[in-house]
Amino acid sequence: MDKILVHGGHPLNGTVRVSGSKNSALPILAAALLTKEPCVIANVPDLSDINYMLQILSHLGAHVERASGVVRIEAGKLKTAAPYDIVRKMRASVCVLGPLLGREKEASVSLPGGCVIGDRPIDLHLKGFEALGAVSRIEHGNVKLFANELRGATVNLRGKQGPTVLGTDNVMMAAALAEGTTVIESAAAEPEVVDLANFLNKMGAKIEGAGTRRIVVHGVAELHGAEHEVIPDRIEAGTYLVAGAIMGGDVLLRRVDPSHLGSLIDALNLSGYEIEAKADTLRIKGHPSPKPLQLTTEPYPGFPTDMQAQMCALLAQTEGISVISETIFPQRFMHVSELKRMGADISLDGHTAIIKGVAKMSGAPVMASDLRASAALVLAGLRAEGVTEVNRVYHIDRGYESIDDKLNQLGARIERMKA
Ligand code: EPU
Repeated sequence: MDKILVHGGHPLNGTVRVSGSKNSALPILAAALLTKEPCVIANVPDLSDINYMLQILSHLGAHVERASGVVRIEAGKLKTAAPYDIVRKMRASVCVLGPLLGREKEASVSLPGGCVIGDRPIDLHLKGFEALGAVSRIEHGNVKLFANELRGATVNLRGKQGPTVLGTDNVMMAAALAEGTTVIESAAAEPEVVDLANFLNKMGAKIEGAGTRRIVVHGVAELHGAEHEVIPDRIEAGTYLVAGAIMGGDVLLRRVDPSHLGSLIDALNLSGYEIEAKADTLRIKGHPSPKPLQLTTEPYPGFPTDMQAQMCALLAQTEGISVISETIFPQRFMHVSELKRMGADISLDGHTAIIKGVAKMSGAPVMASDLRASAALVLAGLRAEGVTEVNRVYHIDRGYESIDDKLNQLGARIERMKA
C-alpha cells in the first residue's frame, strides 16, 4: 500500500487548478445508463472512485471510453445486476439503482455496507422508488427493485439527518422516465444535485427546482444522448483553501466556482483570512493571528460535512478554543485520534469536537481512515514539525487527483512511497 511522507514547515504559495467534482461526476456517469445513445462527459477527475464507477457501468453492458478527462458512454443493451465484488468498493455504486429502475424497471445491486464515517442506510432511496411504484426486497445482501411501471408521485426525502444527496439523485433519475409528475419534497440542494439535473435536462428530462428543497420531475418516455462538463470540485477547492490557511501563504485556486463555497469562505473570513473571489478563481492569504471558530455541519448551503475534518486540522493549530458539531454523520471523527497523535488537543463530546489550538504539532506515522480524514492528516502534516507518514493513502486517491503533485507545485514537500 502506498504511503505519503509530508515534510512539515514548507511555505505554500502559487496556483493550483481544481479538478472536476467527484460527487457530481459519479451520479452523472451513472445517468448515462438512462439512454441507449452515447453521452460524453468532460472534466471527469482521474480518481479511483471514478474507475470503480466506470467498471460497474462496463459490467452492466455499457461501452466506456476515456481519454484526458473525457468519458464517452454508450449503454446499448443493459444487464440489471451489479455484483458485490465491484460494488462493495464504493458506496456511491448505489446511484446506478435509479437509472436501472428508470430504464429497465428492475435493478439488483449489492447493498453498500457501513463505512467508517457511520451507518450509511438507503431507506430514503427505497422510500422514493416505492413511491414511484417499485417493490424493493433485500435478498442475499442485494437490494432488488422491480416495477411493472413507474408512476409520478410526491415523496418527502427528509431523514433524521436532513435530506439525502444520492437519494435525491436516485429518485430524480428514476422519475425522469416515470409516467406523470414526481415531486421530491425536502430534496438535497447541493450543487452536485443541480449539476446532475442540468445533465438530465440536456438528455431531454423535464426537471425543475433543482437547488431548492422541492424538485419537480415531469416524466418523459425516452431520454437521448448529451454532452456535459462536470462542475469544479468544491471540496477539493476547499481543501486547498484550508492548506493555504494552515501555511499562511498566498494560494490561488483556478477553475473553481466560488459561489459553491460560501459557507467555508464565511468561516475563513470570520477567522481572519482574506479571501478574494473572482468569476472562477479564489485566492487566500494567510493571517498572522487567526481566530478560533464555532462550526456546525449542515446540508448545503450550510457548512459541508466533507470539510469538517480539514477544518479540525486547521483549528487544531489555531490559538483559542474552537468547537465543531457534526450533524450529518455524527460519528465522522476518525481523524481526531490521529490528529491527537500529532499533538492536537481535541476532545469529543458526542457529535461535537472541542479543539484547543496548539502552537505546534509534530509529525508522526498516522493512519488514513476515510477520504476527508486522510486529507486532514496531510494538511496537519504541512505545518507540523518533522515528517508525517500517512498510511493507507488509497483513501486519498479515491477523491483527490494528484494531491501530492498539486501541493508540491505550491511549495510543499510531499513524497509518495510506492508499496
Ligand atoms: N441517510 C439516511 N437514509 C438514506 C440516505 C441517507 O438516513 O437513505 C442519512 C445518512 O446516514 C446521513 C444523511 O442522511 O446521516 C446524509 O447522507 P446522504 O445520503 O446525503 O449522503 P450520500 O448521498 O450517501 C453524499 C456524498 C458524501 C457527503 C454526503 C453529505 C457522494 C458520492 N457522496 O453522500 O461525500 O458526505 O453526500 O453531503 O456524493 C465524500 O465525498 O467524502 C463523501 C462522503
